[in-house]
Amino acid sequence: MKKVYNIAVDGPAGAGKSTIARSVAEKLNFVYVDTGAMYRAMALHFLRNGIPAADEAAISKSAEEVDVTISYENGMQQVILNGENVSGLIRRPEVSSMASAVSIYMPVRRKLVELQKNLASKENVIMDGRDIGTCVLPHADLKIYLTASSQVRAKRRYEELTAKGEECSLKNIESDIIERDYRDMNREHSPLKQAEDAVLVDTSAMTIPQVVDRILQLFYERNMEG
Ligand code: DC
Repeated sequence: MKKVYNIAVDGPAGAGKSTIARSVAEKLNFVYVDTGAMYRAMALHFLRNGIPAADEAAISKSAEEVDVTISYENGMQQVILNGENVSGLIRRPEVSSMASAVSIYMPVRRKLVELQKNLASKENVIMDGRDIGTCVLPHADLKIYLTASSQVRAKRRYEELTAKGEECSLKNIESDIIERDYRDMNREHSPLKQAEDAVLVDTSAMTIPQVVDRILQLFYERNMEG
């Protein structure tokens, strides 16, 4: 069987995971898998149906019924919720909070982790999320834990949203990020943490190309024969 390569990228909200992983994927000709988008699509489904995050039984039941898949258009991941492409609807702050709040439940995670493992078993992927190195791809060929200070991460998110013409406040973004990190790091199932064999990359004072080069260098070092 052909060897498939898997790169796992984990880290807190706004560390630059998706920008970096997308760029590494392009350079290596790998598929980029954004797992946060899957949690966001599920969260959007619960929001649309008025299911509160605190109602574990209703969330669990709905998670089992809902259909979340991904596809690619011109190399860009699209997330499909019950047949509808919702990629443009999942970046709002209320969806971010809901995704973090419902990702604590096992039925939500079980379903999405299965989809993620399945994707990674077929193709060379670089996958980003919170539990990729620790849970989804424990045997990944390279694991990166990407982080940056909460101020730097909030500023990046603020610039990203304002560039899109969205109104937002830097202070609210930072408090949302701190709250989300706390929840993601302290939940019972698959909390965000650095895998023992992951390489820590603090991007606070690094440019995007510097981070991308570092990851490529680490990948080539570890997979010389590849
Ligand atoms: O990466 P993101 O900001 O799009 O993720 C949104 C939320 O989804 C995040 O706060 C926690 C959850 N998530 C998760 O629990 N596990 C993942 N692998 C990816 C995201």
